[in-house]
Amino acid sequence: MDILPEETPVWQYIEKTARSVAGRFGFSEIRFPTFESTELFARGVGDTTDVVQKEMYTFTDREGRSFTLRPEGTASVVRSLIENGRCSDTMPLRLYYLINCFRYEKPQAGRSREFFQFGTEVFGSASPLTDATIISLAHTLLSELGIGQGSLHINSIGCPACRPAYREALKGYFSAYTDTLCETCRSRLETNPMRILDCKSPVCREIAAGAPKTIDHLCPDCADHFAALKTYLTAEKIPFTVDTSIVRGLDYYTRTVFEFIAEGIGAQSTVCGGGRYDGLVRELGGPALPACGFAMGITRLILAMEASGVKIESDARPLLYIASMGEAAKAKALEIVAALRRRGISADCDIVGRSLKAQMKYADKIAARYTLLLGDNELAAGRAGLRRMADSTQTEIALDDLAEFFTAEAAYRSEASRTEGL
Ligand code: HAM
Repeated sequence: MDILPEETPVWQYIEKTARSVAGRFGFSEIRFPTFESTELFARGVGDTTDVVQKEMYTFTDREGRSFTLRPEGTASVVRSLIENGRCSDTMPLRLYYLINCFRYEKPQAGRSREFFQFGTEVFGSASPLTDATIISLAHTLLSELGIGQGSLHINSIGCPACRPAYREALKGYFSAYTDTLCETCRSRLETNPMRILDCKSPVCREIAAGAPKTIDHLCPDCADHFAALKTYLTAEKIPFTVDTSIVRGLDYYTRTVFEFIAEGIGAQSTVCGGGRYDGLVRELGGPALPACGFAMGITRLILAMEASGVKIESDARPLLYIASMGEAAKAKALEIVAALRRRGISADCDIVGRSLKAQMKYADKIAARYTLLLGDNELAAGRAGLRRMADSTQTEIALDDLAEFFTAEAAYRSEASRTEGL
């Protein structure tokens, strides 16, 4: 996927904000390989899921081993913890990642074959306090990104103790509609009937509306867990809807599942999906270690920010552009610009050899905030005209005072952007 220069400021802003929020919640970053053994995703994500059956980019290496470009991050994080002996670290272990993922899906707005996720995972706690905390992290990040209308949908899909009876209840219910269900759901009836609840086909949706609900079939422990989660979310003042159609598309979930849905961004409106997966670490060869987490799709966050009218400005916009005429002035411009950049100030000058007029046009194009005009006379006088581009006001400034002036100006702007979002 190409992300062009005019698009990167918003990506950088999301990444910076995600890291900042994750840090405040005590999460550390983990990085892991872009591809893993196919077996990891088949076992981790689940053989019967759409991701494993239809969407993986799988290839064979020179030694005939099968690898897959990661379709998500959770299975890889679990693999990494087990492989690096981290399952006995001080718990809870709180990790986050910013990764690209690959799924062979039909591309549309908010859905691409290479996409990017910000994800978090917490290991070593079965308490619903942890579920509430990761939901709070997601909620905080969404509101800091200015995505006001994101709504939280939660559900509980039970555990290995209550799931079998629920599966049977679902099978019993859907069997009466075998002829009406879509072809995919007909095969899901045997392999994974819960996935029928997630089907987007209008006919299946209508049938699913009357299906037995997970929350009516929870064992007492799962019911208590879900009740406690709701209490904690209410205490944290995070609004939520219990939505029994949320079952998630990956096999590892147990108990809590949740999604944040954004309005106004089309059909692919789930900006964040996650839940608890208490059996996965064991399934992949580690100890019994409860866990939960979520992932957000960055492109969908961008669409939601646009829908909310959030605009992020490029950091590359220079504070000062020096337009120069003559060899000596060009060298002096380079000298001043280098000194300002060393002080952390964004400054620019001609590096192409343009005429003065073309330089002024260029300064306008890159939206420099100030322009300084430097020629032989200015060099001799040690002073030059400084134009504030916003209102074209011009003042004279000693060249020796430029560093001090722009240091103060940069500090003012950074304070203003922190307090007023300018
Ligand atoms: P997921 O629901 O498959 O969950 O993906 C999480 C998010 O990634 C989605 O809500 C969506 O925003 C984004 N996403 C997924 N597919 C695409 C695509 N093709 N194009 C653009 N964005 C996409 C997981 O991946 C789990 N690993 C989340 C998790 C972490 N659960 C526990 N821990």
